[in-house]
Amino acid sequence: MASETALLSGKPCITAGCGNTSRLQCPTCIKLSIQGSYFCSQECFKGNWNAHKEVHKKERINQQLNTRTYNPWPGYMFTGKLRPHPLSQPRTVPDHIGRPDYADHSEGYPASEMAVKGSTQIKCLPAEDIEGLRVACRLGREVLDIAAAMVKPGVTTDDIDEAVHKACVERNCYPSPLNYHKFPKSCCTSVNEVICHGIPDKRPMEDGDIMNVDITVYHNGFHGDLNETFFVGNVDEKSKELVAVTHKCLQLAIDEVRPGVRYREMGDIIQKHAQAHKYSVVRTYCGHGIHRLFHTAPSVPHYAKNKATGVMKPGHAFTIEPMICEGSWRDDTWPDNWTAVTQDGKRSAQFEHTLLVTETGCEVLTARREKNGQPHFLDQM
Ligand code: MF3
Ligand code: CO
Ligand code: CO
Repeated sequence: MASETALLSGKPCITAGCGNTSRLQCPTCIKLSIQGSYFCSQECFKGNWNAHKEVHKKERINQQLNTRTYNPWPGYMFTGKLRPHPLSQPRTVPDHIGRPDYADHSEGYPASEMAVKGSTQIKCLPAEDIEGLRVACRLGREVLDIAAAMVKPGVTTDDIDEAVHKACVERNCYPSPLNYHKFPKSCCTSVNEVICHGIPDKRPMEDGDIMNVDITVYHNGFHGDLNETFFVGNVDEKSKELVAVTHKCLQLAIDEVRPGVRYREMGDIIQKHAQAHKYSVVRTYCGHGIHRLFHTAPSVPHYAKNKATGVMKPGHAFTIEPMICEGSWRDDTWPDNWTAVTQDGKRSAQFEHTLLVTETGCEVLTARREKNGQPHFLDQM
């Protein structure tokens, strides 16, 4: 079925000898950004189909070639095998969905966050805010589970982003990454040597990859933030161990969250377990306070002997999101100013939850709601 378009403005039907004014455009051509495939009627569209579909085939081959040979930064020395691929067109969020302040700022500037930058004061959330945060985190979990179900060889990280964006909108959520300090997409997808903040693009996932999807949703004034690392097809035992140890690092830290514990202790717990398996801990990126602001106090480093300030109290909400590396913990950033990669090109894995400190321990607000709360990767172990 060809699509009706309001923008055809009297272009003639492309059927040889037809001459009628067109009302329809080929939907496959729209998807592939092929200009000029106008038809006057479904009959002319169907009549052309056998010849016309060759146009799609040629364009698909062409686009795949472009995707493989794309090099936006000649001269940049990549640390590993992964390469950037073209991005899809920007996505928009309908006006009826509540937006964070940075969504409409030309530089993606989060003014409310910046106003309290540098402060180490940690907010104790009142009961209404706790409920608001719970809802955002539950919706974030639903969105991550949708992404998880799509992970397989051949699917692009942009396909994941498209589904994530749609799932957010369907749940009345703004995808928090979109335009945050100008981040161009609606989630982060971090493959193999990418530590975090990978930008979804047209690279198809490959058998053996590990891929982290990091989802943050903004709903009714609150952000809920979580991520998991997934296996793409058949992953080698070495990578499986990295992912399992990374998840255990997060779990061991969560087990010690309760009132009176210092935020700086999280790093000691995480590094101890990572080091026991000869892995290293990323130092540049930390967990963070989260509620009405996406990133705020406390800062929660994942490495040992850190100097983080603050003591856990009931009503504090924050993330723990350790990034654990096979080799060196040192990071580099691609010239897109986002993609954080390991300097040695070896793999890195990550898991993240948003937590609420309670009177006796903590509530994992982004916990999985079925399968005993196990992360998705365990389904494949
Ligand atoms: N969700 C990430 C975190 O865990 C932050 C992503 S910010 C973005 O803190 F701009 F890169 F999306
Ligand atoms: Co986070
Ligand atoms: Co996150």
